[in-house]
Amino acid sequence: YNNISIAVDGPAGAGKSTISKLVAKKMNIEYIDTGAMYRAFTLKVLEKGINLNDEIKIIEELNSTYIDFINGHIYLDNKNVDKQIRDNIISQNVSDIAKIREVRNGMIRLQRDIAKDKNIIMDGRDIGTVVLPKSNFKFYITASIEERAKRRYKDLIQKCEKSISLEQIKKEIEKRDELDSTRAIGPLKKAKDAIEINTTYKSINESVNLIVDIVEGR
Ligand code: C5P
Repeated sequence: YNNISIAVDGPAGAGKSTISKLVAKKMNIEYIDTGAMYRAFTLKVLEKGINLNDEIKIIEELNSTYIDFINGHIYLDNKNVDKQIRDNIISQNVSDIAKIREVRNGMIRLQRDIAKDKNIIMDGRDIGTVVLPKSNFKFYITASIEERAKRRYKDLIQKCEKSISLEQIKKEIEKRDELDSTRAIGPLKKAKDAIEINTTYKSINESVNLIVDIVEGR
């Protein structure tokens, strides 16, 4: 391929990252997880004990934070934080950080920089609409709220976060989607030219093959 860029957006737990990672592997292109970047910065803000309403402090912290995404791994100030960013406490707070204009501007710059001159698939909420509006291919991945809650619940149980119920997870996902899709800057939205894929009744492989077939022109 020559400078291929695939944008993947959609609500929490729809399967974006699982699918994008496998598409990247199959096509031998690079996968960029933009949610991981917002999560990493949220981890830093929480670790520093900064009040989530204190935008000035948060923006100040951003200026002394170094985030990178290399070979599918996320680094916060040169430390690998793949595991920590998946804790539920991060999921519960990330949307409040991601709504801040300066935070989004910083992340967008970084994301465009990482994607430059490479064949990539990038997933997030605003990739097809804002970050890479000229992507060759755009996908909008969805699934029913029940299915998305079940998938997240399974993930958390596997990680032994057993204190949480399916009902609670469902509420948290609904709240996060609400915050992400109603914010003023870069809200979650299907790009006009995006192809929608509903994964509720699809296996991971089916969704992966669907995308690869479309991109490769079958
Ligand atoms: O994709 P993931 O669920 O890991 O994203 C975590 C959060 O990061 C989202 O709920 C959203 O608040 C934020 N995010 C964003 N824009 C992106 C990717 C993620 O605002 N492109």
